[in-house]
Amino acid sequence: MNEILEAIFRRRAIRAFDPVEIPEAVREQILQAARVAPSSFNVQPYRFYWVETPAMKKSAARLCMGQAPAETASALVVAVADIGSWRATTESQLEWMRKEGFSETQISKAAKKAKLAKWFFLQGWLGIFGGLKWAILRVVNCWKIIGTVPAARQGLFKWATKSTSLACENLMIAAEALGLNTCPMEGFDGRRLGKFLGLNPRTHEIVMVIAIGKKSASHVEQPQWRRPLEATVKFL
Ligand SMILES: Cc1cc2nc3c(=O)[nH]c(=O)nc-3n(C[C@H](O)[C@H](O)[C@H](O)COP(=O)(O)O)c2cc1C
Repeated sequence: MNEILEAIFRRRAIRAFDPVEIPEAVREQILQAARVAPSSFNVQPYRFYWVETPAMKKSAARLCMGQAPAETASALVVAVADIGSWRATTESQLEWMRKEGFSETQISKAAKKAKLAKWFFLQGWLGIFGGLKWAILRVVNCWKIIGTVPAARQGLFKWATKSTSLACENLMIAAEALGLNTCPMEGFDGRRLGKFLGLNPRTHEIVMVIAIGKKSASHVEQPQWRRPLEATVKFL
């Protein structure tokens, strides 16, 4: 079978890891694979916290409800949807375009798009502007075909979570391809873990924590069950 497919089919959620150290070069490859995942408007609205120092890992694992994968992993990767990074991201993309020698027309087109992004993300005082945007779009949608644009804060988080999850899957498949194993987890105390990492609840939301390490011989593999294809897919 193709190597990529092999890694995809081999991946399982692992609940017990051996205490191995993940070399820096492997860590780098895994994170590079995560960040090349596709993202909406290429905004990459996420950040990863790679928790590997023993003390930090111990505290983070406790906030993952002391789950076995968290307690035994070599590292915990906290994937955070970030709806506040757009300004820095658009500026850094423009800077990159200038450095890469893009034409003035291309740069000014991208700059215009970046200015428009502000209206996409702006929430205003108490989120009133976000709610207003949502209401206006809803009315316009009565007679006009428009894309489902997130307007209010929760919509933006939902939007950012999609791209974050794609990066997470890339990360897990890359880890698998490099001989490591993972367990995605949403069993964590989001409020405490966010505080522990110094996140801003207005712009950051933890999507999942990925335990990463080397599968232990003590891990008991259960048969893998999935709904049948006909129940998952509709061919039209
Ligand atoms: C978003 C998400 C959250 C999950 N949360 C947990 C969790 O908190 N603890 C855990 O042990 N497994 C967790 N899992 C792993 C699933 O239980 C697992 O993927 C599923 O049972 C299928 O097993 P498989 O991945 O080995 O095929 C989570 C998976 C996903 C995608």
